[in-house]
Amino acid sequence: MRMRNKSWAKPFLIENDDFVVASPSSNKGKWNELLNSDVIHVEIGSGKGDYFCGMSKLYPEHGWIGIEKNSNVAAIAVKKALEDRRSNSLFIATDAKDINEWFCENEVDFIHLNFSDPWPKSGNRKRRLSHQNFINKYYELLKKEGCIVMKTDNKDLFEFSLLEFANTSFTLVDFSVDFRRNVHDEDTITEYESKFMELNQPIYRAIFKKH
Ligand SMILES: C[S@@+](CC[C@H](N)C(=O)[O-])C[C@H]1O[C@@H](n2cnc3c(N)ncnc32)[C@H](O)[C@@H]1O
Repeated sequence: MRMRNKSWAKPFLIENDDFVVASPSSNKGKWNELLNSDVIHVEIGSGKGDYFCGMSKLYPEHGWIGIEKNSNVAAIAVKKALEDRRSNSLFIATDAKDINEWFCENEVDFIHLNFSDPWPKSGNRKRRLSHQNFINKYYELLKKEGCIVMKTDNKDLFEFSLLEFANTSFTLVDFSVDFRRNVHDEDTITEYESKFMELNQPIYRAIFKKH
């Protein structure tokens, strides 16, 4: 997601440090308590926060943590979230590459990957959030039977991801190559998703469960 630099973004994120966690590793093992929930969801690459805000409202009994590395975009997501601040959500405005330093083993129930950057060049595959290296990190922090829920418009990324997960200790438990052909009130539409839906492009979705 390319966006012009917003001079207010970084100061805004720092200012709101009761919502934007500056040092997520200090919350390691404490997220359940902090979010007052037994069920923890983590969205990596929250973008402008539509999914994060919508889902934390839809599932108020669950805890929601949004992660976004681009501070310009993260600031928009945080602004949106603070307009209707919910006690069941927190935000991390940092690259998820260090995610294992922020969560204990078996601390997370769900990881959501929505319209992750496809990184089409073969030399950049390792940057994909569904690359084996990331999957190994997710495996550690997810509970037994914890799930990764992935949505994308990108066929190549979807195929790549199915293969990456097939070679790990995850089982494919659900998938669709046209998720929005049916109404899914249980799942919030992301910013990218709404653009692809307007273009009548199919949305691919898969759920992988840790075994
Ligand atoms: C294509 S956008 C999709 C945004 C949103 N999820 C949606 O569906 O509309 C992908 C987002 O993931 C973020 N992202 C990519 N890699 C990341 C990482 N390693 N850690 C945190 N955020 C990441 C990017 O900065 C970008 O905002």
